Amino acid sequence: MQKHLDNPVFKLISSCADEVGVDAYVIGGFVRDIFLNRIHKKDIDVVAIGRGIDLAGCVKSKLGEEAHLSVFKNFGTAQIKWGEVEIEFVGARKESYSRDSRKPVVEDGTLEDDQNRRDFTINALAIGLSKNNFGKLLDPFGGVSDIENKIIRTPLDPDITYSDDPLRMMRAIRFASQLNFTIEKNSFDSITKNKERINIVSKERIADELNKIILSPVPSIGFKLLFDSGLLQLIFPLMANLQGVESIKGKAHKDNFYHTLEVLDNVSRNTDNLWLRWGAILHDIAKPATKRFEEGRGWTFHGHEDKGARMVPKIFADLKLPLNEKMKYVQKLVLLHLRPIVLAKTEVTDSAVRRLLFEAGDDIDDLMTLCDADITTKSSAKKERYLRNFAIVREKLKELEEKDRIRNWQPPVTGEVIMKTFNIPAGREVGIIKTAIREAILDGIIKNDYEEAFNFMIEEGKKLNLKPE
Ligand code: CTP
Repeated sequence: MQKHLDNPVFKLISSCADEVGVDAYVIGGFVRDIFLNRIHKKDIDVVAIGRGIDLAGCVKSKLGEEAHLSVFKNFGTAQIKWGEVEIEFVGARKESYSRDSRKPVVEDGTLEDDQNRRDFTINALAIGLSKNNFGKLLDPFGGVSDIENKIIRTPLDPDITYSDDPLRMMRAIRFASQLNFTIEKNSFDSITKNKERINIVSKERIADELNKIILSPVPSIGFKLLFDSGLLQLIFPLMANLQGVESIKGKAHKDNFYHTLEVLDNVSRNTDNLWLRWGAILHDIAKPATKRFEEGRGWTFHGHEDKGARMVPKIFADLKLPLNEKMKYVQKLVLLHLRPIVLAKTEVTDSAVRRLLFEAGDDIDDLMTLCDADITTKSSAKKERYLRNFAIVREKLKELEEKDRIRNWQPPVTGEVIMKTFNIPAGREVGIIKTAIREAILDGIIKNDYEEAFNFMIEEGKKLNLKPE
């Protein structure tokens, strides 16, 4: 164990523990990650049997000017920031929680009390830092064997652990998804039973855990657990609504929940971009709302891309996700997600590709990644055909980009030129002419250059009885 405590700060904590007269242990994620062979965390949690604040004060004075100490007297905790390292000092606690809030009533306790009140056995591992136990592992609940067997388990009766802090239900699923661990049956049953208590947790914290699930290597693991426990139905009902298959006259549509998860996993193999992953989650979100059974055609979801894009702002607001350009990006992916497929089904014309490039701008590559991922058909012949057509679309995109430079493009004749040429003020007519020029270029009627666009503008002006000055 000692070799993992090679950061000099551990020796400092050790001699301070002696000076101040407390026992100190490193605990939680730092210790867990040693056994997971993950890169050492920069966040170090230290628990002191006695006054953690005094211990922190001593460590700060030994580290000198470069270290910054913050003390939170009310919570009995302190934090030291030293370069990249953040050390959290707490006194060992025995906690009891009130039923309707996450705020614990805190009493001083022993190391064992402190380990008892932690979320999972794998997070309750502690290593001694005092002189007499430096480097000694304390694993009262078999956390190391749970890591070996890939099991998430609570130290106490799970009903107590989850009810104390219901965010832990999300954390259990997050760790299971990040690490590909199994949640022990008792524990999972308890999540199912206590799921309603998630309502006392702030949406921001839920979003934080949800995003960690989404960023895990195979996010469907986490989403299936969220769904099977009933948590997803509470925290994100619109996504849970995607589940289910309806059948009329022997015709069934696909289950859009499991399809969405397949798309999400596919996208996740190719990108760590959280917002592209969100695009995958939301691409079919409006399917339940647009579902129809049409005689002779079967199931249709007309306009689900449009409606889905319009749903994005409220979904982001409800989940406390950012309402900025990230949201706009997701909205764009949802809106355009069918376009390359439609293109690939018909003849791939220059003007259709130009239009797509204009609307997607710099996000065109991400859109294509989403569209590749969206092909989840089991028929390999169909799949091959789609991918072949996508290859043609990509080729065309490249060709046109080189020729026309449509990505992030502005038409060569601006509103100012229009106003000056016809000596008219800003207004409706300028808009009409501008749109006509843009459309003509996108449709390939005129070339993307100033002279052609200028002549075209004169012609369009004539239609509105405008004469150049
Ligand atoms: N903890 C807990 N209950 C919570 C949150 C945290 O018992 N709801 C305890 C766990 O022992 C955990 C430690 O506090 O290991 C530190 O929590 P945190 O920094 O949130 O997470 P880590 O376990 O360090 O993991 P990660 O950095 O991956 O989030």
